[in-house]
Amino acid sequence: MGSKQVVLITGSSTGFGRLFVETLARKGHTVFATMRDPAGRNAKNASEVRALAEKESLPIHVFELDVTDDGSVERAVNAAVAKAGRIDVAINNAGYYLSGLEEAVTTEQARRLMDTNFLGPVRVNRAVLPHMRRQRSGVLMHVSSAAGRVILPSAGFYSASKFALEALAEAYSYELAAQGIESVIVEPGAYETPVFGNTVTAADEARTDTYGAVKEMPAKIKAALSSSAGNPQEVADAVLRIIETPAGEKQLRYLVSPTSFGVDDINALSKQVQAKALEAFGLTADTKFLKGKAVGTV
Ligand SMILES: NC(=O)c1ccc[n+]([C@@H]2O[C@H](COP(=O)([O-])OP(=O)(O)OC[C@H]3O[C@@H](n4cnc5c(N)ncnc54)[C@H](OP(=O)(O)O)[C@@H]3O)[C@@H](O)[C@H]2O)c1
Repeated sequence: MGSKQVVLITGSSTGFGRLFVETLARKGHTVFATMRDPAGRNAKNASEVRALAEKESLPIHVFELDVTDDGSVERAVNAAVAKAGRIDVAINNAGYYLSGLEEAVTTEQARRLMDTNFLGPVRVNRAVLPHMRRQRSGVLMHVSSAAGRVILPSAGFYSASKFALEALAEAYSYELAAQGIESVIVEPGAYETPVFGNTVTAADEARTDTYGAVKEMPAKIKAALSSSAGNPQEVADAVLRIIETPAGEKQLRYLVSPTSFGVDDINALSKQVQAKALEAFGLTADTKFLKGKAVGTV
């Protein structure tokens, strides 16, 4: 793999995704800035990205990709490979926050959240992996959250979607390393992006109304998160550093957060526990990856 990489990013219309596009392209990486409906709901965002690319002569291509649609994901990945010949990094960034008391979240709301935040990366990874396998290299990057490690009331479904993503990404990391493919997790804390304005609220208000004072909790937590939010460029700079870290030297997890709450302690302990669990299942002795990564000192 050369130093300049080919990167496909989901959810590039706003927020982190948009910053990843600009930050990586300005360092010379070829970026497929994917978003849903670039000719319709995201027409303004798509034309701003294209205008920036033209103004600064940046290697950015805007493609349509809705992570909830198998065909859309496959078309975008195939078009990117047809254009650039390869995909070195897939950044699973598209996602949204769902706020509300858990009992008030309808099953349809829960299904949609998982379809985007969890099954979206499943679709993207399944589409890019045959190309990475052919290359014998590649990075699956998963934008999780500190809420993929700790749980706040009124964020249970969001956490469930990110915990699910973390489990998938970690299992992938064990299975794919022998093929030269890395799986990494980025855990942002609260950052100032449109995420809070795009939040979906639990729909069953009749259930919420039975909770007395507890029903104020979702709004309080959302307000606390948005008032402590940091500059999202920190996350884009971290993603750039991770992508430019040589193959085999990346960590599995990166917490990037204005405040830790001890999430880094959970990650350190989890690494030890995972190493013991893998050892107990006899998986450490004969696999290059398991020796180097889960048990080693990355
Ligand atoms: N900001 C934070 O504090 C924070 C903290 C931890 C983790 N995160 C995670 O960071 C990621 C990016 O969020 P953000 O903070 O940058 O918020 P954002 O500005 O709202 O960005 C979310 C992006 O996801 C896209 N998206 C949603 N559903 C999609 C779908 N079906 N197909 C394709 N794209 C879709 C949105 O596109 P549209 O424009 O089409 O809606 C948008 O581009 C999310 O996974 C979020 O959970 C954010």
